[in-house]
Amino acid sequence: MKDNLSHPCFTWDNLSVSHGAVSGVSSPGQRGLEFVDIHSHILPGVDDGPATLEQAAAMMECARRHGTAMLVASPHASPAFAYDRARAEQLLDALRARAPSGLHLIRGCDFHLTFTNVEQALRSPADFAINGRCWLLMELSELTVFSNTGALWRRLEDAGLRIILTHPERNSLLRQRFDLIERWVSEGRYMQVTAGSLLGDFGGAARRFSIRLLEAGLAHFVASDAHDLRHRPPRLDLAFQWLVRQYGEAYARRLVIDHPRCAVEGLPLDLEGFRPPPRLPWWRRWTGGRRETI
Ligand SMILES: [Fe+2]
Repeated sequence: MKDNLSHPCFTWDNLSVSHGAVSGVSSPGQRGLEFVDIHSHILPGVDDGPATLEQAAAMMECARRHGTAMLVASPHASPAFAYDRARAEQLLDALRARAPSGLHLIRGCDFHLTFTNVEQALRSPADFAINGRCWLLMELSELTVFSNTGALWRRLEDAGLRIILTHPERNSLLRQRFDLIERWVSEGRYMQVTAGSLLGDFGGAARRFSIRLLEAGLAHFVASDAHDLRHRPPRLDLAFQWLVRQYGEAYARRLVIDHPRCAVEGLPLDLEGFRPPPRLPWWRRWTGGRRETI
């Protein structure tokens, strides 16, 4: 993989980490399992997530009840849904006032690769990055991959951003271009798989492609991409349990706790030796799985 760790990252010093978004959160080791969900549409009334504060509050309750300790609110920044950092901050404050104990909300956005977005992100990367640091969620079109995509990404990376491609397994175009994903990862981009994809919520093709990414060591994050309580709920626990059964707890933790936490804190991922252990045969998965279980 290309060494892009030399890219500057925003530091605690030059950015305000307001609202105690991260401080005071003990480590997973201290408090047991605490999932970090880097992708959710939970801000009310700004995109295709919840319409009201009440609905958003119910989603927060659901997330916390199922083990999430940090939730990145990542509204779309797309031609269909304008993204406004100031508005997002206001809504985050309103949600924090309603958040259940132990759930910390963090600002992010679901960045679509448009000319306007790129220009704005080059001017002010922290407006779009997770927690104002350096990791950027990026959603690609299902219709085409523009020939200048790599060039645009390099400009964003030169501005200090690290790119996480969201749910490639749900993109029918990318499902036919595994080679592209391999190349992008080798060039220093990262992949986020949707928790529900691992469970079959988005169909067999998305599930199979998710597993292919995992087994190739090309999936770095698992996130909910929550939009509601019913179809795309803010839950990581079921996917985590599935991952533990298939690959063991250590690998599962990296996808839903360790790597996402690095993204929130603006740290590089340590990918030395990052590769899933071989899957157990089916009969062992269903008769107790690995010894290291939750
Ligand atoms: Fe999203």
